[in-house]
Amino acid sequence: MRASAPGKLIVLGEHSVVYGHRAIAASVSRRTTVDLTASPGPTRLADSDIVDDRLLRALRATLPAEGWAVSIRTDLPVGRGMGSSASLSIALLRLRARFEGIEPDFAWLHAEGFALERIFHGDPSGIDHAVSALEGAVVYQRGEAPQPLAMTPMKVVVLDSGSAGNTAELVAGVAARRPGIEPALDRLGELVELAIGSLDDPLALGEAMDEAHALLVQIGVSTPILDDLVALARDHGATGAKLSGAGGGGVVMALCPDGGIELLRAAEARGIPAFLCTLPCGASED
Ligand code: PMV
Repeated sequence: MRASAPGKLIVLGEHSVVYGHRAIAASVSRRTTVDLTASPGPTRLADSDIVDDRLLRALRATLPAEGWAVSIRTDLPVGRGMGSSASLSIALLRLRARFEGIEPDFAWLHAEGFALERIFHGDPSGIDHAVSALEGAVVYQRGEAPQPLAMTPMKVVVLDSGSAGNTAELVAGVAARRPGIEPALDRLGELVELAIGSLDDPLALGEAMDEAHALLVQIGVSTPILDDLVALARDHGATGAKLSGAGGGGVVMALCPDGGIELLRAAEARGIPAFLCTLPCGASED
C-alpha cells in the first residue's frame, strides 16, 4: 500500500500572513511517499528518510496498531520549511482513509492534518498541509479556508542554505520589532495582492519576489547566507529570488523560466545543494 503528497514553497507573504495579510503558496514537484508492507506484530517504522522522534506518535495516530512495516521516502530537504512533515501527514492520512474505507476530500484532510501537524509543529498556521492536500497554488489567509489559485507552472531552482530556521523564534522576533517594521509588513501584503494578477508573468513575479526579499531583510529574518544565495541566483539567470518560509536558514527559491541550468551549475561549482522543481505541481504529475 502506498500514498504520497507534495511539499510546498511560500511564493509571497511569509510573516505578513501572521498579521492578517494574504499569502501565496504552491506545491512543488517533490514528494514524501509512505509504503506499507504487511508484517506480523506491532506496526513499526522499517526505514525512513525523515528522522524525528515525533514520527512514531504520528504513525500511531493514523495507522492500525498491528500488522504493518512502514517505509518513508522523501526527496524534499527535511527541516527547511518545504513542508516535509506536512507532506508526510497528508500521505499518512490518505492511507488511514483507505483503512477506514472513506474517500478523503480536502475538508477531511485539512481538519485531520491539523492534529498531525500539531504533533510536529505545536501551533501551525495550516498553510503547509493545506497546499499538500490541494496540490496546486493557494491563496491563504489566517482563519479562512485556503482558496485554490490558477497559476501557470513555472520552473524554480531551490537553493539550500544548509541549516534550519526556527519558525517560532523568527515569528517572535518579527513581533518584537513592531511597530517600526509595520510599513514593511504592509508592503509584503500588498505585493501578494499585486502578484495575484501577474502569476503567469515571470518578469513581474520575479520583480515582486526581489522586493519581497529586500523587505524580509528589513524585518530581520534573512541571513548573510540567504542573501548570498539570492545574489547568486540573480547573477545566474533568475528573474527573481527570495528566501521562502520563516527565514533564518531554510531555502531560497529562484524563478528560472529558462530551466535554471546556469544557476544549477553555479551552485554545484560552489558546493551548494540545489535542485530544479516545478511550481505548482499538479495531482496529474504523480
Ligand atoms: O515554517 P515555514 O518555513 O513553513 O514558514 C512559516 C511562515 C510564517 O509566515 C513565517 C509563519 C506562519 O505561521 O505562517
